[in-house]
Amino acid sequence: MGKALYPGSFDPITNGHVDILERAAKIFDIVEVAILENPSKDPLFTVEERAEMISEIFKGADNVRVSSFSGLLVDYAKKIRANVIIRGLRAISDFEYEFQMALMNSKLSPEIETIFMMPRIEYSFLSSKLVKEIYQLGGNLPDLVPQVIDRALREKFYGIRES
Ligand code: PNS
Repeated sequence: MGKALYPGSFDPITNGHVDILERAAKIFDIVEVAILENPSKDPLFTVEERAEMISEIFKGADNVRVSSFSGLLVDYAKKIRANVIIRGLRAISDFEYEFQMALMNSKLSPEIETIFMMPRIEYSFLSSKLVKEIYQLGGNLPDLVPQVIDRALREKFYGIRES
């Protein structure tokens, strides 16, 4: 099925993203996770930290690659020769924004398809933004984020480094 591009902020990656990536990696020959370089979003983790953590999570998956990009998504897709963009669709609330983006990307590059995948139901209410807020306020969500992310969030907010 060729190469697919899975773009996003991934600040940080959650189990919802991981679920979609694992399933996409079974469908496509190669899936490249591409982290948007956008300092104006004031990210919690640097692009390098995010890339390192995603690489750690997928170190056993030889068809999952990790990179970062700036500029137009469709230009990056062409540059890495990906013919498909994958986006996760959690709830109706995602639809409007995703619909606009998919149609605009298709207008810019009709040869690149956007494919939507739904995460498993237990991750349908999950977002990086809520994860950050919960850890910042003293909570934790070890079932909803990979272990490396749970550790990094604890370290970021409470300075706890676990061995
Ligand atoms: O995880 P996110 O923040 O919802 O991902 C959004 C992302 C990275 C897919 C989107 O912001 C994007 O594609 N940015 C690149 C700039 C671009 O191509 N903009 C036009 C989109 S129609």
